[in-house]
Amino acid sequence: MSSLPAFRFPKLATLRQADDLRRRLAELGRPLPVDDTPRPDVLGRPIQAGPGIPKPIGNRWAILPMEGWDGTRDGRPTDLVRRRWRRFGQSGAKLIWGGEAIAVRPDGRANPHQLVLSEAHLSEIESLRAELTASHRERHGEDRDLLVGLQLTHSGRFARPNDKTRLEPRIAYRHPLLDARFGITDDRAVLTDTEVDDLIADMVTAAVRAQRAGFDFVDLKHCHGYLGHEFLSAVTRPGRYGGSFSNRTRFLTDMVAGIRRDAPGLAIGVRLSLFDSLPYQKGPDGTGVPTAWSGRYVHAFGANPDNPLEADPAEPFAFLELLESLGIRLVCLTAASPYYNPHLQRPAMTPPSDGYLPPEDPLVGVARQIDAVARAKARFPNLVFVGSAYTYLQEWVPNVASAQVAAGRVDSVGLGRMVLSYPDLPADVLAGSPLQRRQVCRTFSECTTGPRKGLVSGCFPLDDFYKNHPDAARLRG
Ligand SMILES: Cc1cc2nc3c(=O)[nH]c(=O)nc-3n(C[C@H](O)[C@H](O)[C@H](O)COP(=O)(O)O)c2cc1C
Ligand code: SF4
Repeated sequence: MSSLPAFRFPKLATLRQADDLRRRLAELGRPLPVDDTPRPDVLGRPIQAGPGIPKPIGNRWAILPMEGWDGTRDGRPTDLVRRRWRRFGQSGAKLIWGGEAIAVRPDGRANPHQLVLSEAHLSEIESLRAELTASHRERHGEDRDLLVGLQLTHSGRFARPNDKTRLEPRIAYRHPLLDARFGITDDRAVLTDTEVDDLIADMVTAAVRAQRAGFDFVDLKHCHGYLGHEFLSAVTRPGRYGGSFSNRTRFLTDMVAGIRRDAPGLAIGVRLSLFDSLPYQKGPDGTGVPTAWSGRYVHAFGANPDNPLEADPAEPFAFLELLESLGIRLVCLTAASPYYNPHLQRPAMTPPSDGYLPPEDPLVGVARQIDAVARAKARFPNLVFVGSAYTYLQEWVPNVASAQVAAGRVDSVGLGRMVLSYPDLPADVLAGSPLQRRQVCRTFSECTTGPRKGLVSGCFPLDDFYKNHPDAARLRG
């Protein structure tokens, strides 16, 4: 774990009742609806099939995409990947949002062990999906109301296709802060318009493969600082893919047109970082501070250029409007980036090894995402929104989840880290069973620190399988 000083906010495990959590949220100026006891009737309500949603979704739990840095060197699934996907299927959640990021071609990998959706790997990717649905059927009876997507990506600025320690970035534009931080010194990394055209064709080819592998939808990833997300802030990029809003969203619209043409009937979803901010770094005492910047900052999609620490929903809402106009209704909302402002993206008690101490109570980070999703839902009631970043709530996840769904503030509650430590949580809550407290994720971040140290990802503290994995010793060594 990190050698940084101790956590300085009240620990959630010390809150005894829902009222204590409500009081703490109010103290922080971030009140949220919280149910006294979680409501299985609410979380078990299906979402109807309809335009853009090819099947009913049997309940209000979703599994968020999580890669494990554990494919083969050429991008095929391993036993570790298959175990993770089986556990996603067993969880009881009826929406599998993407499984994990899969690169549409080798240079787009975020690490040399990321899966690649090539023709040669297709049957193994198909088997991966089939194992997930079979494990779901075995545990939960049927999969007619299980919607499974695949997250398609090019890692752009954060591509490390050949060596875990070497970035080989392909970027949308030169960035005044991130270039320096990640070692980009000239224009060679910038994709030309023709290279972007080729990449769009590769994304479309990958979507066709996903359809052949039996996925219900593809997620065209637009989050976390990866390439799709980067295009949204490519204000300074000249040419067809930068500058105006319609140019910055051309990467999306051209992919959608290609998929509609070549994979008719395949549903499309988008995972979006709904807001972003300045990059953060460790301050003198290890606490995160925003990187110094003066003047307008136009490089954070969904931030106010005159005060980039503040969200501005104008462009994200224009993007959601665009999705709706394209017939895309499946939207998974997240925020910011795990590489340059992780406390906004995945609030945690212990930062990952390359992180910083939280500059705010992580509850604020959770509430910020939940409230942003609620505002989006109020504005776009026809879109089906999946929320993220609930895991820091720990044993309060079910109480907050059912309250948001009951209030119509979100359609489906996405779980990331929690299902690595406690894959049965959705099923336990739906059954009205008490939580298995020893399995509750405490956001120690070892599943992020592992990959930062070149190891596989898994829940090393709480999952017996990873406690005994050789990488557990290397992680702490
Ligand atoms: C180990 C790990 C791997 C992740 N991989 C992905 C990924 O492949 N694609 C993605 O969109 N998000 C990825 N995420 C982010 C999660 O989907 C999620 O947004 C984040 O963990 C916050 O949700 P939580 O609070 O439930 O953990 C990853 C997170 C973790 C911890
Ligand atoms: S390593 Fe386990 S306990 Fe820690 S954040 Fe990841 S899933 Fe949670």
